[in-house]
Order: sequence, then structure tokens, then C-alpha cells
Amino acid sequence: MALVGTKKMFEMAYKNGYAIGAFNVNNMEITQGIVNAIAEKKAPLILQISKGARKYASMSYLRGIIDVAVKENPDIPICMHLDHGDTFEVCKQCVDDGFTSVMIDASHHPFEKNIELTRQVVEYAHKHGVVVEAELGQLGGIEEDVVGVSHDDVANHLTDPNQAIEFVKKSGCDSLAVACGTSHGAFKFKSEPKLAFDIIQAVADKLPGFPLVMHGSSSVLKEFKDLINKYGGKMPDAMGVPESAISEASKMAVCKINIDTDLRMAMTAKIRQVFAEKPGEFDPRNYLGPARDAIKAMVMHKLDVLGCAGKAAECI
Ligand code: G3H
Ligand code: 13P
Ligand code: ZN
Repeated sequence: MALVGTKKMFEMAYKNGYAIGAFNVNNMEITQGIVNAIAEKKAPLILQISKGARKYASMSYLRGIIDVAVKENPDIPICMHLDHGDTFEVCKQCVDDGFTSVMIDASHHPFEKNIELTRQVVEYAHKHGVVVEAELGQLGGIEEDVVGVSHDDVANHLTDPNQAIEFVKKSGCDSLAVACGTSHGAFKFKSEPKLAFDIIQAVADKLPGFPLVMHGSSSVLKEFKDLINKYGGKMPDAMGVPESAISEASKMAVCKINIDTDLRMAMTAKIRQVFAEKPGEFDPRNYLGPARDAIKAMVMHKLDVLGCAGKAAECI
């Protein structure tokens, strides 16, 4: 099967109360870890590539790796998605490069400008059979190429449900990322994690049947946080979204759950562990291999949390 868009995946996820995992890829081991997990769990998959990933690995390498994943898993629907495209040009480039889904994140612009830029991407992408995710409201956190609001300001930039209906109608987007209290990265909350489920529900009520997306959905798993801190890392205050909340959102109108930080932490934890336990180790296969295995195990667990394990066939 060739790469697919998200239409059927979201239709089934919405109808049957689960979410599709959207995992960020930057290299071969991360991709293999994720793909080995979905192959075993028979789950539909969104592999997402950020602007930073394009810059780091180059599109031709990433495309080559993903092509192999698709070829080796003919019974699994796999979507190649641009994560946080910030200009028309980068979205157009990705459509031209064969992406089957793109995100235009114009959420930092004023409302009208966000609509206008999203509309422009939608017109180009739809002409080429590519679906478009947009964002309304702003998340917290700052990644290399993705700027968000400061953590203290997250609550003031949640999605306004009253704007959502006008935004979707005028922009023509196929799915909408909502700001509901999450942030990118490993430091999402200072005290008790809290998501605005009322916002998700209010947007869902205004847009019945319309797929929503939750960014910043890593949970900062204790296992990896503890290993990182034990083996020379320093992330004592890292805190993510509890998996119970991820599970709850998956049962609502949220059809796509974005996860990057949990992959990064799994990889970092295992590499740190190998280096601490075997200071003489210098064969990359002996630390990247365990990192890849840890990613596989973590993703297998996530697929159960999202409820999409075993759902590959119905998403084709
Ligand atoms: O949402 C952001 C993703 O974690 C990608 O981060 O731009 O550093 O690749 P990146
Ligand atoms: P995390 O940083 O929580 O993994 O979020 C990733 C994300 O939203 C990518 O778009
Ligand atoms: Zn994101």
C-alpha cells in the first residue's frame, strides 16, 4: 500500500472512540522503533516530520526510510505528515515532496491572518489530494523550530470554541489542533497537570464529526525520567500529560495525538544507561540498538493508551 492521508483514519477514530498516534521521526532508529511497534500491534500510523527534522536528516533520507517502512508493512496504513509548517512555502514544498498530510501552524498570527494562510495552504494541498491540519489557539513551550507561548501564559491562549466554527468553515482545513492546556517539550506543568477538557468538548459540540488534534501529548514517563536523572542527566522537574488524560481525550473528538518528547526521552535514557554501565562502549549499534528497542516498547504501550492497537485494517 502507498502512503495514505488521514481521512479514513480519522473517520474510524472518531466513530470508534480512539486516536491515531502521530510520532515525530528524525532518524532511522526512531522510525524503526515506532514502525516495529505498529507492525506488532497492527495499528494505523502517522509519521510526522518537523521543519527541524527536514533540516537535520534531509528529506531524501527521511523519505527513503519511510518508503521502506511502507513497503515492509503493506497491511498498515501509514501517513507522512508535516508537523508545524509555518509558511505557505514549506507546506507547498512538502506537498510537492509527496507528503500525504501537512500542518499549517499559523496560530501565532491574528485570527484573520491564520484563516487566510490556512486557506492558501488548503487550496494548494487539496488540489494535490493532500489533507491539511491547522491550529487555533496557542500551545506552550519552545522547540527548536516551533515557537509557543511561555508556560505561564498557556491558560490565556486556549482555543476559543466560538471562533472554531468560523475558522474551520472559512479555512477549509480537514482537522484542527486545539490548545487545551498542553505544551511542547518535557516541562509541561509546574504542579498538578490539568487539561481543559471543557474546551475540547465545547469545540467538539460546535463541530460535530470534525477531527481534533492534541499536540504536546507526551507523558514524560517515570521510567525514562528516572533513568535520565540516575545516569547523569538533569531533568528533575520534567512533567507531562498523564496517560489517563490522553486516554480520555482519545475517546472524545481528538483523533490525532502528537508524541515526540517521550521518544526523545526513551532514546536518551537508554543511551545514558549504556554509557554509564559500560564506559568503554563505542559501537553505536550497542547504544542505538537498546534505544530503538526502548522506543518500540514505549510506542507499543502508547498504542494501547490511545486505543488504536489492532485498528489498522479498519483504517484502510
Ligand atoms: O512540536 C514540536 C516537535 O516536538 C518537533 O520538534 O522542531 O525540534 O523537531 P523540532
Ligand atoms: P511533545 O513535546 O509533548 O511530545 O509534543 C509533540 C508535538 O506536539 C509535535 O507536534
Ligand atoms: Zn506540536
